[in-house]
Amino acid sequence: MTIEFNGQVAIVTGAGNGLGKSHALELAKRGAKVVVNDFGGARDGGSDGSLSPAEATVAEIKAAGGEAIANGANVASFEDCEKMVAQAVEKWGRVDILINNAGILRDRSYGKMTTSDWDSVIAVHLTGSGNCARAVWNQMKEQSYGRILMTTSTSGIYGNFGQANYGAAKMGVVGLMNTLCIEGAKNNIQINCLSPTAATRMTEDIMTPEMLEALKPEYVTPAAIFLVSKDAPNHTVMFAGAGTFTTLEIHESKGKFLKEGHRSADDVAENFAAINDMSDPDVFLSGTEHVVKVIDNATKT
Ligand code: NAI
Repeated sequence: MTIEFNGQVAIVTGAGNGLGKSHALELAKRGAKVVVNDFGGARDGGSDGSLSPAEATVAEIKAAGGEAIANGANVASFEDCEKMVAQAVEKWGRVDILINNAGILRDRSYGKMTTSDWDSVIAVHLTGSGNCARAVWNQMKEQSYGRILMTTSTSGIYGNFGQANYGAAKMGVVGLMNTLCIEGAKNNIQINCLSPTAATRMTEDIMTPEMLEALKPEYVTPAAIFLVSKDAPNHTVMFAGAGTFTTLEIHESKGKFLKEGHRSADDVAENFAAINDMSDPDVFLSGTEHVVKVIDNATKT
């Protein structure tokens, strides 16, 4: 095994089931000490929660000779996340890896979506990922080492009927990654996103048995492991499912500079094909780079 995590400590949220469990088992197999977090609620985030799913994953890790502890934090609570990080540091002295994986669904077409559907999904996926990252951030800074993985989704990147709340939260974590990459750079903290496709309780009712067989969570985990390894890339969104691995690039067109007096809405409409021409796109690593481009265009003519 080339990728190993000997001496490293990892936190995996939502690791009592599905993808998180698969990630936690593989991290432990490769030498990491793992905090197995799971709130233990229902798929929609309802019910009071239970430590049993996290404990079951811990038992599997220990049975295979690995080291792990269970944690029942609700990632939507920053206080819970702080305690979870404190638990890891107290036990093992550091936190090298955070995999933000915990998630719930409250699917509903937008006209029928309630405030509670919206708030609860944003709270777990977006605020939860932000909470966990914020809770480990200073520890990673002190260590001058950290690998954080956000779990995004095609529902956010491309859209999916009935998942406006979920899609917004999942694209939100891509935005969170973009800025954390900039802020973490000087302390060797790297952040990536994983967009999985897997058969879990989250997707079991929308897939046929053949699809479920092709989409084992274990086929996604290699991407997660690579993205939190020492030699991981930074600022990468990787899709993984059923053996297909791809990456996403956010780019913008070169665009068209419209001179003063020729930049009305009608001019924009007339020039839309050129504005939208993606044949020679720009890729930027910060918002500032876009601003430099527009100022450049305005001053060189
Ligand atoms: P899952 O439902 O099997 O696992 C999610 C786990 O998160 C559960 O064990 C649950 O108890 C835990 N959890 C929920 N709320 C929590 C909270 N507030 N605090 C701590 N733990 C909490 O679902 P699955 O499919 O394994 O999903 C894992 C991640 O992958 C999620 O973020 C999901 O949105 C994402 N994802 C999954 C896809 C798939 O095809 N299965 C597709 C795209 C994204």
